[in-house]
Amino acid sequence: MSAANANIKELDQRLAEKWISGIWRIPAGARPAAPKTKVLPHLWKWADVYEGLVQARDQINVERGAAERRTLRLVNPGVKDMEMTSHTMLFAFQMIQPGEVAPPHRHTMSAIRFILRGSGAYTNVDGAKMVMEDGDLILTPQWSWHEHAHEGAEPMIWIDGLDVPFIQSLQVISFEPYPENRMPVRSDTHDPANYGMTRPVTTAENKLAAPLHYRWRDIYPVLKHLAEGEPHPYEGYAMEYVNPLTGGSTLPTLSCWIQLLRPGQRTQSHRHTSTVLYHAFSGNGTTVIDGKPFHWEKGDSFVVPLWHWHEHANLSAAEDAILFSMNDAPVLKPFGLYREEGPGKSQLGL
Ligand SMILES: [Fe+2]
Ligand SMILES: [Fe+2]
Repeated sequence: MSAANANIKELDQRLAEKWISGIWRIPAGARPAAPKTKVLPHLWKWADVYEGLVQARDQINVERGAAERRTLRLVNPGVKDMEMTSHTMLFAFQMIQPGEVAPPHRHTMSAIRFILRGSGAYTNVDGAKMVMEDGDLILTPQWSWHEHAHEGAEPMIWIDGLDVPFIQSLQVISFEPYPENRMPVRSDTHDPANYGMTRPVTTAENKLAAPLHYRWRDIYPVLKHLAEGEPHPYEGYAMEYVNPLTGGSTLPTLSCWIQLLRPGQRTQSHRHTSTVLYHAFSGNGTTVIDGKPFHWEKGDSFVVPLWHWHEHANLSAAEDAILFSMNDAPVLKPFGLYREEGPGKSQLGL
């Protein structure tokens, strides 16, 4: 070691004792020219998720003081210590059995429910009883009270999408159980869907989000109609679930999309600084992520990490493919951190 290096090492040590650090200690590779993520592209098979839920069915109790939720999280192998699906978002699958109540609570994390199968369950968000049907999207904005209850006959399964790791990184997680075992259903809640292109002027505190219910029976015909027009080069036919209160993203931290690829349709390749969690709601296809093909079919989920080139293809010659997805662009855009690039070189070669 040269004398100069020895002196710097000694300086570093002296500074460290005072909780001070020289910027020269940052390794050269720690300042990449382009965004770099530890999140890995990955696909989870429906059969594995479903089997896990069935096995947990009789072993996990959702009562208060027990597990409270029968939920499986999708863990990204690149950030496995976090047990999250990406560095900003979580996709989990929840099952509730007839007669069960997942007890009420609230938290600073925002949540979405995308309903996959079953009927007769409802979620109560701040007193609004929302009966779940396949393909519906239901919002639980941050800090709203919510419980799930099942009045039907078959087990019910849905996706829980949350911003947990983002809220965790800001160190503002708060969680509170409801003071009673059940939440009352209120009759005076308004369904924002009734307002159409208008929104009520109220004296209530300015809210950024509401417990909204986007029904599949309303969404699907619009998506089909969209798919009769010109496709988007990177998305096929896609719609964002907007928040009618603000005209902005689905929730302040999350944006949800529904996307249709017509039989045989292929998109062009692009990349962006947002991360996207996908769920194949119907059909089957392939998404190529940084050169690696991920084949998906109904029920599978996958993640496209930030700044990874990706393109989608519907492999069926007869059937539409429909992807539900959730992305973290709303936490990037306000700070000028959202970037998009494309078209890239086609990676499909199928
Ligand atoms: Fe919750
Ligand atoms: Fe994309």
